[in-house]
Amino acid sequence: MAFTSMVSTVPVLFFFFTLLLVSANSSSLSHDIKVQEQDKDPFVGFNIGTDVSNLLSPTELVKFLQTQKVNHVRLYDADPELLKALAKTKIRVIISVPNNQLLAIGSSNSTAASWIGRNVVAYYPETLITAISVGDEVLTTVPSSAPLLLPAIESLYNALVASNLHTQIKVSTPHAASIMLDTFPPSQAYFNQTWHSIMVPLLQFLSKTGSPLMMNLYPYYVYMQNKGVVPLDNCLFEPLTPSKEMVDPNTLLHYTNVLDAMVDAAYVSMKNLNVSDVVVLVTESGWPSKGDSKEPYATIDNADTYNSNLIKHVFDRTGTPLHPEMTSSVYIYELFNEDLRASPVSEASWGLFYANSTPVYLLHVSGSGTFLANDTTNQTYCIAMDGVDAKTLQAALDWACGPGRSNCSEIQPGESCYQPNNVKGHASFAFNSYYQKEGRASGSCDFKGVAMITTTDPEMLMFQVMEAAFSREARRSEIGHRQW
Ligand SMILES: *[C@@H]1O[C@H](CO)[C@@H](O)[C@H](O)[C@H]1NC(C)=O
Ligand SMILES: *[C@@H]1O[C@H](CO)[C@@H](O)[C@H](O)[C@H]1NC(C)=O
Ligand SMILES: *[C@@H]1O[C@H](CO)[C@@H](O)[C@H](O)[C@H]1NC(C)=O
Ligand SMILES: *[C@@H]1O[C@H](CO)[C@@H](O)[C@H](O)[C@H]1NC(C)=O
Ligand SMILES: *[C@@H]1O[C@H](CO)[C@@H](O)[C@H](O)[C@H]1NC(C)=O
Ligand SMILES: *[C@@H]1O[C@H](CO)[C@@H](O)[C@H](O)[C@H]1NC(C)=O
Ligand SMILES: *[C@@H]1O[C@H](CO)[C@@H](O)[C@H](O)[C@H]1NC(C)=O
Repeated sequence: MAFTSMVSTVPVLFFFFTLLLVSANSSSLSHDIKVQEQDKDPFVGFNIGTDVSNLLSPTELVKFLQTQKVNHVRLYDADPELLKALAKTKIRVIISVPNNQLLAIGSSNSTAASWIGRNVVAYYPETLITAISVGDEVLTTVPSSAPLLLPAIESLYNALVASNLHTQIKVSTPHAASIMLDTFPPSQAYFNQTWHSIMVPLLQFLSKTGSPLMMNLYPYYVYMQNKGVVPLDNCLFEPLTPSKEMVDPNTLLHYTNVLDAMVDAAYVSMKNLNVSDVVVLVTESGWPSKGDSKEPYATIDNADTYNSNLIKHVFDRTGTPLHPEMTSSVYIYELFNEDLRASPVSEASWGLFYANSTPVYLLHVSGSGTFLANDTTNQTYCIAMDGVDAKTLQAALDWACGPGRSNCSEIQPGESCYQPNNVKGHASFAFNSYYQKEGRASGSCDFKGVAMITTTDPEMLMFQVMEAAFSREARRSEIGHRQW
């Protein structure tokens, strides 16, 4: 995880040139991507760094992820305790080969095979491992290991094939944005030729195996390096006046935010190497909430705005100007502030939560379903978990309304919360009643593990379920009116 990864300084000026009122179709570049994941929804996941003085125990961490409805995480290693704790949950996980293990794995097939045995086969499918990220920003941070990157990836893949897991679990490697040059305008981007001997076979591998190109993309660094040229609003996904939109002079595509431009730069760079069927997965993106005097844009407000808008952007599924049909999933960097990371101050301040799981700031993501905390309320509720059998729930419900002395009068027949008449709805009401009565004390939302805390009012949940199908269209048209 190298955040010092800088985006090549760019001739952005000419990119920001005019109001072009022409609206062009996406260029021919956009049409030939076959997307094996097309029918799957794009998602937002989280990176979990561990340079944290008091990290939650694996069990607490998993509980926290469930409470926050985080269903996708990326780890920088393959921690056995955490992989165990993730078993039998719906949380999907990318595990990683740290850079310091590349040498061993890249130079020995049997080491790669035993790595797969130890870190994948031992847990899958109870733990839903979806991908292996092999090294991190290897070309730019440990170039001496670069020759081992592809051998490592291929031996790990071969070991997955031997276990017949290669269709379920993808193998790839995250790159820094700086492997691309001239990223603005995106239509002129290309991979630094220094790495062609590695990128060409790597992309062929990704294409052949249906794996994504993993990119760590930070509009924050673009802004830091091009202050005064790239508008801050553009980096933060804020609404722009037309004069601030970036127009790519070659494609006439309008870019309203830097992240989309970076993703399209990756597609163009691949296309320049004749690869057009590999999907971009954003393995890291984020914004620090605190910085030193040289990092004045690392503020809570900017971090909140960036991450909130990023989440909404992914869930809006509008793709990029070049590929409107395809929305990249994004892993936010990162879940927890890593207080043990060395200076600058921003290094320790990328998290949405402190290590003790209290939020650094509350996101503005209302409208994005039940994902993460809601900005407008600090209220928490206790509800029944998904997937618990009715008998277990009934027992917990009986306890809450009996010995637990919850006020259950409203879920009696004929009363206002009787409908929907099912054990899950009634249990949620009773659990929440108990939890509120106990002053939301810690431990008062457990019920032997069948309850969980949420920021969504249970009375709203039913509506949300019903409205889920409509909300995406609604949000889209709302956005259509608000900007551009
Ligand atoms: C844009 O695409 C549409 C649908 O493919 C086509 O009808 C239209 O002629 C295109 N416009 C331009 C300016 O190429
Ligand atoms: C690893 O296995 C592959 C495929 O079987 C083979 O081509 C390669 O030479 C092996 N590498 C080593 C270091 O033994
Ligand atoms: C391409 O990468 C090499 C190796 O890291 C670097 O020395 C060179 O400066 C890069 N080229 C450009 C134009 O940045
Ligand atoms: C890409 O295709 C063009 C045209 O067929 C060819 O000239 C070029 O060498 C190819 N590039 C690579 C990296 O394969
Ligand atoms: C949320 O509530 C807790 C106690 O219920 C309080 O300590 C905390 O400061 C509140 N946070 C915000 C952002 O209002
Ligand atoms: C239980 O809730 C009902 C409805 O909100 C209320 O009328 C009643 O007074 C409550 N009973 C107790 C014992 O608090
Ligand atoms: C967020 O809070 C607002 C206002 O209380 C509410 O209308 C909305 O439904 C909430 N959204 C979520 C996702 O909880």
